[in-house]
Amino acid sequence: MARLQHFGWFFARGFGPQGWGHPYWEWNYDWRTPKLYQQAVRELEQAGLDLVIPEDAISLGTDETLDLRIRSAYGGPKHDPLMLVPYLLDATEKIGFAPTVNAGATPPYLAARQFATLQHLSGGRAGINLVTDVKSARHFGLDELSHDAAYDRAEEWIDVARKLWHSWDGGAHVADRATNRFADASKLDRFSHEGEYFRVDGPLNAVPFGPEGDPVIVSPGGSGPGLAFAGRNSDVQLALARLTVEDVVAYRRKIHDAAIAQGRSAQDIKVLFVFKPEIVSSREEADRIVAASQTPSDEVIRAILEGQSSDLETDLTVLDLDKPVDPAIFGQHVSRGTIKGLLGKHESFEEATLRQLAVAKARKGRITDGSGFVGTADEIADFVEALGDDADNDGFIFSGDLHPVTIHRTLDELVPILRRRGVLRTEFGDGGLRGNLTDF
Ligand SMILES: Cc1cc2nc3c(=O)[nH]c(=O)nc-3n(C[C@H](O)[C@H](O)[C@H](O)COP(=O)(O)O)c2cc1C
Repeated sequence: MARLQHFGWFFARGFGPQGWGHPYWEWNYDWRTPKLYQQAVRELEQAGLDLVIPEDAISLGTDETLDLRIRSAYGGPKHDPLMLVPYLLDATEKIGFAPTVNAGATPPYLAARQFATLQHLSGGRAGINLVTDVKSARHFGLDELSHDAAYDRAEEWIDVARKLWHSWDGGAHVADRATNRFADASKLDRFSHEGEYFRVDGPLNAVPFGPEGDPVIVSPGGSGPGLAFAGRNSDVQLALARLTVEDVVAYRRKIHDAAIAQGRSAQDIKVLFVFKPEIVSSREEADRIVAASQTPSDEVIRAILEGQSSDLETDLTVLDLDKPVDPAIFGQHVSRGTIKGLLGKHESFEEATLRQLAVAKARKGRITDGSGFVGTADEIADFVEALGDDADNDGFIFSGDLHPVTIHRTLDELVPILRRRGVLRTEFGDGGLRGNLTDF
C-alpha cells in the first residue's frame, strides 16, 4: 500500500524575471507584479502541495560572475521574496510559504518580529528557509565568516529568534476587558542575550502566534554543520542528494541521527528531496529526448557552464574544457551539494575533464532505469511511490520557477495519478504550515 508523501515547490532562482529565455516569456506576464505568482501558487495549493520555498540571494555576487548572473537573468536581478509573500498568502488559504532568510543579513530581532507578524496575518502558514551564505556580507559592511562560523552564527540566530517568539509565554497577553488590561509587562521575558554574534534584548514587540506558533524552520545545507543544524533546529530539511534508494536512506539516517543527538526524534523533521522531473507524453518521446541529449552541442555545453558558474559563484567558462577542474577554485562557502552535483557520478575532479562533466550534465536519462528524470507521468509516479515504499521517503520538493506554464507542465498529469495511488493528499487540515507537515 502506497504511503502519503509531502510535496512542496522550491521557487528556484527566486523572484526574478520568470520565463526569460523560454518561449513562455511571451505569455506576457509582468514578473515584477504579483498576479503571475498568485496564479501559480493557487495552482500549487489546488495540487495539494504543503509549502513553497522562495529561493533568494541578496547579492548579485562577485565581480567574477556578475555578468554571467545577469546576462540571461540566471542569478539576478532578484526582488525581495519577503515582500511578495503577503500577496501569495492573500491568494491562498492552506499552502505555506517559507521565504529564504540569511542569518548574516537579517538581524534576529527584525526577522522574529516580521515572522511573528506573518504568522498572524496568515493563520500560521509562515516558515523560514534559513541560509548561511556569506557572499552578501560586503553589502552590510560585515566581514565574510568562514563556512562553519556562518553555521555557528545561524545557530545563535535561531536561539535568539526562538527566545523572542517565546518572550510572551508567561501569560503577558492578558486582554482582560474587566480590568481593561491588555498586557502585563511583569510577565514578559526581558532577557539580555550577549553571544558571539548578536547582542539582543527581549522582549519582542509583537504578540507571538501561540506557544506552538513558531514559524516552520527549513534548512538546505548538506555539510556536517548543515546536517547538525537541521538536526537541532529544522522542521524541514531541503535535501539535495542522488535519488537512489541507497542515497535517500543514507541521507535520511544522517538527518535522523543528528536530530536524535540533539534530543529530538526522527519524526520531528521531514526530509524532502529536491526533484525536477521532465514529464513527457509517451515512452517514445522520452526515449527520443534522451537520445537527442547524448551529444550536446557547444552551445548547450556553454549554457550549462554558465548556469553552473552562477550557482557555484565560480567562473567555469574561462577554464580549459579539456582539463580537470582544480577543486581549490571553489571557495569554502560554495554548497557542497552543488559541487557534488557538478561532479555527478565521479568521486573527485581528477577523474574527468570539465567537458566530460558538462556533457554528463547535459545528458538526460530515463527515470525507469535510474539514469535521469525523463519519463511519462505514470513512470514518474512509479518512482515517487517506490521511494516512499522502499526508502521510507517523506516526500519531495519540486524545483522550478513560479510561472504557471512550468507548474502545469510539471503537475497537470502527475497530480491525478499520485492522488489515485494515495501518495498525494486530497485535502488539507486546519493547522497552518506546521499542520500541513504533520497531517500524516
Ligand atoms: C537546495 C538548496 C537550496 C538553497 N537555497 C539557498 C537560498 O535560497 N539562498 C542562499 O543564500 N543559499 C541557499 N542555499 C545555500 C545554503 O544555505 C548554504 O549556504 C550552502 O548550501 C552551503 O552549506 P552546506 O555546505 O552545508 O551545503 C541552498 C542550498 C541548497 C542545497
